[in-house]
Amino acid sequence: MKPAFCLLNLLSILNVVFAMVNPIEVRNRHFFDSVTDQPFFIKGVDYQPGGSSGVNDFWDPLSDTQACARDISIFQQLGINTIRVYSINPSLNHDKCMTMLAAAGIYLVLDVNSPKEGQHLNRYDPWTTYNPEYLTHVFSVVQEFSGYNNTLAFFAGNEIVNDKVSASASPIYVKAVVRDMKDYIAHHSPRTIPVGYSAADDLSYRISLADYMECYQYSPSEAVDFYGVNTYQWCGDATFFTSGYNILVQDYSHYSKPIFFSEYGCNEVRPRQFKEMGSIYSTQMSGVFSGGLVYEYAQEANNYGLVDFDEKGNVYLLPDFFTFKSMMAKSVDPPIPKSALVSQSSRSSSARGGRAQNTQKACGTHYDNLDISKGVPKSLGTALILKGVNATKGSYVSLSEQDLVSSYSIFKPDGALLRSTSVKKKEEFS
Ligand SMILES: *[C@@H]1O[C@H](CO)[C@@H](O)[C@H](O)[C@H]1NC(C)=O
Ligand SMILES: *[C@@H]1O[C@H](CO)[C@@H](O)[C@H](O)[C@H]1NC(C)=O
Repeated sequence: MKPAFCLLNLLSILNVVFAMVNPIEVRNRHFFDSVTDQPFFIKGVDYQPGGSSGVNDFWDPLSDTQACARDISIFQQLGINTIRVYSINPSLNHDKCMTMLAAAGIYLVLDVNSPKEGQHLNRYDPWTTYNPEYLTHVFSVVQEFSGYNNTLAFFAGNEIVNDKVSASASPIYVKAVVRDMKDYIAHHSPRTIPVGYSAADDLSYRISLADYMECYQYSPSEAVDFYGVNTYQWCGDATFFTSGYNILVQDYSHYSKPIFFSEYGCNEVRPRQFKEMGSIYSTQMSGVFSGGLVYEYAQEANNYGLVDFDEKGNVYLLPDFFTFKSMMAKSVDPPIPKSALVSQSSRSSSARGGRAQNTQKACGTHYDNLDISKGVPKSLGTALILKGVNATKGSYVSLSEQDLVSSYSIFKPDGALLRSTSVKKKEEFS
């Protein structure tokens, strides 16, 4: 057993935790801390223990305080500043986990969809699933998480366009959801929270879909605020050049919004080395990419995990955990090249950089391999956007020091028990 009792006695003197993180905002093509004005690079992991079935009527990854205490203490060991969660249930309470993440200085990028029926777009016939019931779910997620300053951003969709049929059916619907979310945020959120799309890195759509998501046809809110790329092209001993990352950076060098890896970490060569992090967090990429999220925290059948679990919920740190952790320790925020601090259009107009407004690009008529001819559909959420959905707005809560200590055990690969497994407040952690 770990020495939970003396730890608790010591900590309970400190009593409660207060969460303070500064909201992050988009300025031109980078993220910035809205208070310190420092550029923000995403250093994170994708987090969905239980996989796509890890969300139901009673449980999701951010509803279980004990599991959060366990995993957030591990996030702190890794040295990350962001997690991405793919699905939550907005009728559950997330206040404690979000407070704990904030206390640890960790931000959340949240997908608004879930595998449940009525809670995602069908990529092949999206018109059957784009409806007020679906939007009620989406807006409930947005409303709840708009209450937390450490909600970094929302994803309106993940890899919805991934083949010929979906590329002809769904791009205009993804834009409709982006627009509705941004309009909902403008009406009901205490602050502007960026909305983006997470794309499968398919060369047929790499540039065209990104460009289409960046523009607007009828209303400026149809444009994403940032773009996420899921890529697995850097494997093993590859380099910036042999992996093709150099082309990736070149292909997005014209983009006017922040871009980051919403998933990365090829596992064709194992154990993984995560050498791409040496490029991601360097000036090779910092003008175009704002960091990324490694796929993924929890081991599943597809073998990408940094940690494994037993059926009781105890954690087993895997070899990749230690490699990722040591690469993360070497990843200091790179400077952003001066030329990249100014947006494409403000460079040619009279804006003087700094806090210039985000650019607005009107859509063209042709985007390679996409069918956008029907145009962005009219909103079916207008009434909901005006009235608001009946969902709670999350808020930070007081946590006792007991909340920060999980009862689970964490084991190293040699079977030894990890000693310190409680969440530390950011300022205490080093
Ligand atoms: C959220 O951030 C804003 C802006 O920095 C700040 O004024 C506010 O107090 C923060 N809210 C909480 C609950 O920390
Ligand atoms: C809002 O939701 C709560 C909790 O589910 C419910 O008790 C209440 O009746 C709802 N209010 C309206 C106006 O639908």
